[in-house]
Amino acid sequence: MESQPPFEQIADIPAAEMDWHLARALLDWQVEMGVDECIAEGPVDRFAVEAERVAAQAAAPAVARGGAAPAEPRAEIDAVEVARQAAQGADSLEALRAALAAYEHCELKRGARSLVFADGNPKARVMILGEAPGRDEDREGRPFVGRAGQLLDRMLAAIGLSRDAEEPEEAVYITNVLPWRPPQNRDPKPQEIAMLRPFVQKHVALAKPDLLILMGNISCQAALDRRGILKMRGQWAEAFGRPALPMTHPAYLLRQPLAKREAWADLLSLKARLEDL
Ligand code: URA
Repeated sequence: MESQPPFEQIADIPAAEMDWHLARALLDWQVEMGVDECIAEGPVDRFAVEAERVAAQAAAPAVARGGAAPAEPRAEIDAVEVARQAAQGADSLEALRAALAAYEHCELKRGARSLVFADGNPKARVMILGEAPGRDEDREGRPFVGRAGQLLDRMLAAIGLSRDAEEPEEAVYITNVLPWRPPQNRDPKPQEIAMLRPFVQKHVALAKPDLLILMGNISCQAALDRRGILKMRGQWAEAFGRPALPMTHPAYLLRQPLAKREAWADLLSLKARLEDL
């Protein structure tokens, strides 16, 4: 995943280019530098504030001041269960997209510009499960449109597949485990993967691909509950009831070009499996 510029440079970014992630990073940086208070538009009379606080405390009933009162039971929300029910209720890809858009329990949603749902041909025999949108994907609202995505398109073209193809035999359908960009492109937390997994599972069930490609560790974690992509790549497994091939992520291949040799072997394995079926 790509990283943001050093914090010292963030402050120089013009206001028009400041988005939620940059603003959040700048705030974190200021806190690290020791800033512990916001400066308001006008002066605050701290003596009056304190006097008001003391008066309010004196006037409040004992219970509100920490006296013995039976604690109200707090209703805990099970975000994974809410996701499961929302995903279960979706009977089409459009309904699934709407269910994701309405899901309010993932913090990532607040910082993202777009819901990145899917791209390509939903009738394709091959479905690719990536990790999470980056900056380019967040801007465009489509998965795999940045540098890694362009490499992915070239890799697929080498075995006659394309996200733009109309024929299911030549097409791919692409989605991600996370539909929202994580701040600073950080790795998703296990809880975030767990709450979005029911949507991924339903996505696969609705698209009904013959084969799944699991791009990278996050996808393997979501689909197989395992990590260790460098060991797992190239070995067919089963995920969501379908044959699934873990592959190294194109972003990794951009950093480690020598690994392209193994990725090519994996692509040939995919092609052979498609011909066998
Ligand atoms: N990497 C991914 O895993 N998915 C994207 O959509 C873009 C980059």
